[in-house]
Amino acid sequence: MRYLFIISALFSFQSGIAQNYTVYSPARKIAVSISNNQVLSYQINYKGKVVIKPSQLGFKLNKPNVILSHFDVVTVDSLVYNEAWTPVWGEVNKINNHYKEITITLADKSPHAITFKVVFRVYDEGVGFRYEFPGQVNKYLIVGDELTQFSLAGDHKTFWIPGDYDTNEYLYNTTRLSEIDAVTAANKEPDIAVKSVIGPDAIQTPVLLKTADGLYISLHEAALSNYPAMHLNLDKPTLTFQAHLVPDAVGNKAYLENPARTPWRTIIISDKATELLASKMILNLNEPTRFATTEWIKPQKFVGMWWEMHIGKATWELASGKHGANTANVKRYIDFASKHGFDGVLVEGWNVGWEDWFGNWKEDVFDFITPYPDYDLKGLTKYAKQKGVQIIMHHETSGSAFNYERWLDKAFQFMNDNNMNTVKTGYVGKIIPRGEHHDSQWMINHYQRVAEKAAEHKIMVASHESVRPTGLHRTYPNWMASEAARGSEFNNAPALGITPEHTTILPFTRLMGGPMDFTPGLFRFKLNQFEPTRTTEVRTTLAKQLALYVTIYSPLQMVADLPENYEKHTDALQFIVDVPVDWDDTKILEAEPGDYLTVARKAKNKNDWCLGAITDENSRVLNLNFDFLDAGKKYHASIYRDGEQAHWKTNPEAYVIEKKLVTKKTKIKINLAPGGGCAISIREVK
Ligand code: NOJ
Ligand code: CA
Repeated sequence: MRYLFIISALFSFQSGIAQNYTVYSPARKIAVSISNNQVLSYQINYKGKVVIKPSQLGFKLNKPNVILSHFDVVTVDSLVYNEAWTPVWGEVNKINNHYKEITITLADKSPHAITFKVVFRVYDEGVGFRYEFPGQVNKYLIVGDELTQFSLAGDHKTFWIPGDYDTNEYLYNTTRLSEIDAVTAANKEPDIAVKSVIGPDAIQTPVLLKTADGLYISLHEAALSNYPAMHLNLDKPTLTFQAHLVPDAVGNKAYLENPARTPWRTIIISDKATELLASKMILNLNEPTRFATTEWIKPQKFVGMWWEMHIGKATWELASGKHGANTANVKRYIDFASKHGFDGVLVEGWNVGWEDWFGNWKEDVFDFITPYPDYDLKGLTKYAKQKGVQIIMHHETSGSAFNYERWLDKAFQFMNDNNMNTVKTGYVGKIIPRGEHHDSQWMINHYQRVAEKAAEHKIMVASHESVRPTGLHRTYPNWMASEAARGSEFNNAPALGITPEHTTILPFTRLMGGPMDFTPGLFRFKLNQFEPTRTTEVRTTLAKQLALYVTIYSPLQMVADLPENYEKHTDALQFIVDVPVDWDDTKILEAEPGDYLTVARKAKNKNDWCLGAITDENSRVLNLNFDFLDAGKKYHASIYRDGEQAHWKTNPEAYVIEKKLVTKKTKIKINLAPGGGCAISIREVK
């Protein structure tokens, strides 16, 4: 429902007089004040406290060459919107979209007289704003810089990763704003091969801030489309973030053909960490899907011929003599998936090209349709079908997005012809076209073209090394997950690896934009299984690996370890067999970034629930209250918790499985080990 409302502020159209507009969120928790005084600026208050101090809006254009900072207000429009919608899949089955909107149309005072609009949507949970350029005489614009600022009201505690045009696979740093040192942090990460660090004061979004008086603030963007990703550059003396757009090969940021619009800049604010995690504002700011049908889009769990290569049992390439993707080995994975009811088997290294895939900046390494001679594609397609399992395609592009686009039609048709409906894409290395970055406008458009083309073929996508998500999975529900952060593969990275706290920060940062293909489920913790000299280790307990299926939301969840490692713990594997990947409801029970998180989710179209609780390197007593369950019903709970002596370092495999009857009134205490967790599946007694 849309209706107009009267802006609760005074304004004047007489030039020379300050023009101020204030918009309150529906329940008046948040107020945005926009002022066109010397420059155009905005301010955000939450429950009366200043969260964003007056911060500038505007652009520096390279074509025409002009700074857009002084304007005349042309018109002001406003409306209220309040409507619920149903996602194709997700954490909840209904999302309410309720905001007040103000659109201010401005004419820049330079001789170019460029017209644009700034649109603010004010929610009770935060603010989204963007710029729109209507059709005008200057049809083509080149953005040199976006002058958007976020001026923070204090030297907040900040959870950040270095600003980088090409990778987001860093470990998070927790410092005060004034202590951000992105170059030093990036230099501690030798395991990240391709880096383009922006500078000492630049970080990436989503970034989480926590104020001294307990406010949580998340800065990010929504609906990133036909525009580069936004990083943030901090001006330390004023604690002001300045938008920093990822440039193209010649240093331009964005090419706009009017009418055009930018992504939404998002500020989510809450005095409760749990509430911040429950926000659906970023999804709400994205467009509904335009796909005519969506019933072919299916959440799924999959195993994979994948971790073997990462820990040195096998290789992607054939020439090594220990090629993993051979027919017999892939059959073994198909058998394992079929036995336990998993939907898919990811196969990496099935196609020719891996002898020469990395580090050479070569344009046409892969053709995406030619299997290695020891991989019987037709035979395996048939075998998988008999076993009720689907093979998941792997398209590593080695950064050559241009080559991938040339093959896209054939590659997706090949998938259709061979009964494959899901692809994992990857962009390891430097991007070709040369000079483009993983996060630049050309690549943003590339990821979208892949999602669109995949949809034409009814194919689902999980992308790796792609830009971090901005809620586009509402519009493209077949682009189900991306990696776009430090995922489980980094357990095997010698330098910093994955710290126990990493998974307690991810939900507050990277996951704010959308699902992650993190690939949890490791059951073997010392990674020297095949190479005795390997010193890397998984820094969680086994129970925490289970809990990650609930705390890290994704409609595509990998069951990442080797069949032989699962066979040793089939009782614990049962939780992964049981955990759904699509939900009717989600309750964030308790949360603190960097420390702990407990989430309960209700299975889609069922009365069953799952609960996941994780902690960082500190042990913790979990006081569980089952009051999220229905009154008057009984449930069987299977509790997978850390054993008494469990510890991520010394005893990660110690776990206990207990069965209990629970009701809405049940309260129990559970100990989480250092680096530990707890997973519970809860089934209604029928
Ligand atoms: C990086 C991906 O994140 C990983 O999952 C994959 O195995 C390798 N690239 C090879 O494509
Ligand atoms: Ca990766």
